[in-house]
Order: sequence, then structure tokens, then C-alpha cells
Amino acid sequence: MQVPQFSLADQTAQIKKELDETINQVVTKGSFILGDNVRKLEEEAAAYLGVKYGVGVGNGSDALYLALLACDVGPGDEVITTPFTFFATAGSIVRAGAVPVFVDIDPQTFNIDANLIEGKISEKTRAIMPVHLYGQSADMDPLMKVARKYNLRVVEDTAQAMGSEYNGQKTCSFGDAGCLSFFPTKNLGGFGDGGMAVTSDPDVAEKLRMLRVHGSRKKYYHEVVGTNSRLDELQAAVLVVKMKYLDKWIAARNNLAGKYSDLMKQNGLNGIVKEPVALSSGYHTYNQYTVRVPLRDELQTYLKDCGIGTAIYYPLPLHLQPSFANLGYKQGDLPESERACDEVISLPVFPELKDKQLEYVVKSIRQFYKEKGLA
Ligand SMILES: Cc1ncc(COP(=O)(O)O)c(C=O)c1O
Repeated sequence: MQVPQFSLADQTAQIKKELDETINQVVTKGSFILGDNVRKLEEEAAAYLGVKYGVGVGNGSDALYLALLACDVGPGDEVITTPFTFFATAGSIVRAGAVPVFVDIDPQTFNIDANLIEGKISEKTRAIMPVHLYGQSADMDPLMKVARKYNLRVVEDTAQAMGSEYNGQKTCSFGDAGCLSFFPTKNLGGFGDGGMAVTSDPDVAEKLRMLRVHGSRKKYYHEVVGTNSRLDELQAAVLVVKMKYLDKWIAARNNLAGKYSDLMKQNGLNGIVKEPVALSSGYHTYNQYTVRVPLRDELQTYLKDCGIGTAIYYPLPLHLQPSFANLGYKQGDLPESERACDEVISLPVFPELKDKQLEYVVKSIRQFYKEKGLA
């Protein structure tokens, strides 16, 4: 049996007719840049998340970068964030001219440990960038409390967590701005790159709209230097169709996580495989089903030989990346993030994953640990 870590094949087949129709309409109309579908998606995404404005941009990385600029983060500023995330999180901070300051993670949730933030605040701290990793909200109450106490901006990296909640409120709606990625593997994924920054602050929204078109409000008059980063109209058309199914797909992911958990227990693996901890205050959307395991790399090779795809998000924390060597961090500085990098493995999870496939994954994991004398 083959079990990919992620596949869009069945999902696309199920809604192919609707997708073909909308793509054809865009092609016939011939309005390819910032057209009706981009506007529609901006409105629908903002309403879904409970914010006032959405601004479609080229990808999630640019959403983060432009959101920081729109929140007036720049040279001389420090931005507190997590080192256990995709590179774009801290990359956007550096692109904005600021310095990332890394705070270690809570080992239970893999998200920034909100209790450690205050200790890293300096005169230069301007913003906090939490990441809602794998589909689980960061601990937003203490984080927002410290942000308010020190008058800091908050830009949420919600690339992996569209639809997730914290105390009944959608992630992406807590801070001054929230950022989405529509990369194909995300909860709402397009047929290529795409992203959006959302906000309820009209000033931030206006700046975002300018920044995505080279800092211009009126064509060929440029008030600031921005960039060219717009959500593509064809992508937006695909995403408007997919938005209708988002909650159904998220529920399917959540359901699969429950099945993994049950099957791990039934197979006596719960002492070996540490399953994800979903906070009771949140709604985890399982963009990834990431577990901690012993002998991680050997398990990955074993599963690969069984025809099962897995992924390591992430093998090296950002504070130890060569590109950030100038920041002066060394091994051991952020031990929980470093440990997570050595232990995590993301198992197959996508809404159309079949029960039989999931059972095969768990059985194969059990077989591996049996052969190792651990199960
Ligand atoms: C946590 C996180 N932040 C930012 C991004 C960047 O998004 P994009 O790939 O759309 O630029 C991603 C996506 O890969 C991500 O997972």
C-alpha cells in the first residue's frame, strides 16, 4: 500500500467541475490582477476569521514581511518569535530590517512559551510574532497580556492554522495583523503560491494595500517603497471555491487525529509515540499530525520502505541556521526547540486519507518498534 504524507488528488477530483468552471470564467473575462475573485476571497476570509480586512498577497512569506512593514517594524527594532518554525517567520523579520529574538518553545505544544517572552523584552522590542504551529494556536492570553503591557505589536503567523481557535476565537484575529499562506499543503491551499494578511485596523489595511503594489495608492505615484506581491486572480478563484469546504476538511483532519490517537493506544504505542497535545482552550486543525518518537530517522527510513511518506518539520531550529549565525546563538541556547528538531516526525494527514491507510501507518510503526524490541 502507498500512503503519501500529503495528497490533493482526491480532493481536487471531488470538486474538479466547480474548479474548471471558475478557472474558465477568469480566462474568459481576462482580468488577471486584483480582480473580483481576489476581492471576494478577501471579504470571505476576513468574515470567516472575524476581522475587518483581508489583503491578498503573493505568498505567506510576503504576508508576514508586509504585515511587519504595515505595523511600522523596521531597522533598529527587535521582534520576538519562535525558532521552531518554517524559515519564513524569522526571514520576514530580517527582510523588514529588524532583528529576530528567539524564545524557546513549550515542549507540549511546540509553540512559543508565552511565559518566557517577558524575559526577552528590551528597549528595542517592537513586536511579537507567534506561530500557530501544525494547526494549534499559540497560548494567546498570556502573549497578548505581555504585548499590551509593553505596548508591542503582534503579527500572527497563521500559515499552518487557518480555522484554528483559541478560547472560541479564530487564530489570525488576535494581533494587529494575521498572516495566511495558501501554499497547496495548507488547510486552505491553492494551486500554487498565495497568501493574505488580515487586520481589523484600517490604517494597517491601507498600508498593506499600498505595499503590495510598490507603495502606491494612485497608479504611478509611490508614497513608500513596497514590492510587487499580489494574490493571483486564478489562485483566488480556486480558493473561493475551496473556502466552501474548509470547515468540512478541517473536521476531517480533526477526526483523523482522533483515529490516530485511538489506534496508537490499541496497538500499545502510546508509551513510545508521543502524540500531539491539543490544548483544551483551543481547536487544533492538524495541518500536521506531528509526534515525538525514539529512533526518529530510522523510523522514517523504515516507513519509506513500507511506502509511507513522512516529513520532518523541522530538522534544524532557526537560531542555528547558517543564515542567522551573525545573531550569535549557539547549540544549547534553546534546548526545547533543539530537542523537538531531533524527535519530531509528521505522519500522513490530509482530509481524504482513508482509514485503511491510517491503520497501515500505525501497524507499520508498531512493526518497526517490535523489531527494535521496544513494543
Ligand atoms: C509557519 C509558516 N510560516 C510562513 C510560511 C510561508 O508561507 P509561503 O510558503 O506561502 O510563503 C509557511 C509556509 O510554508 C509556514 O509554514
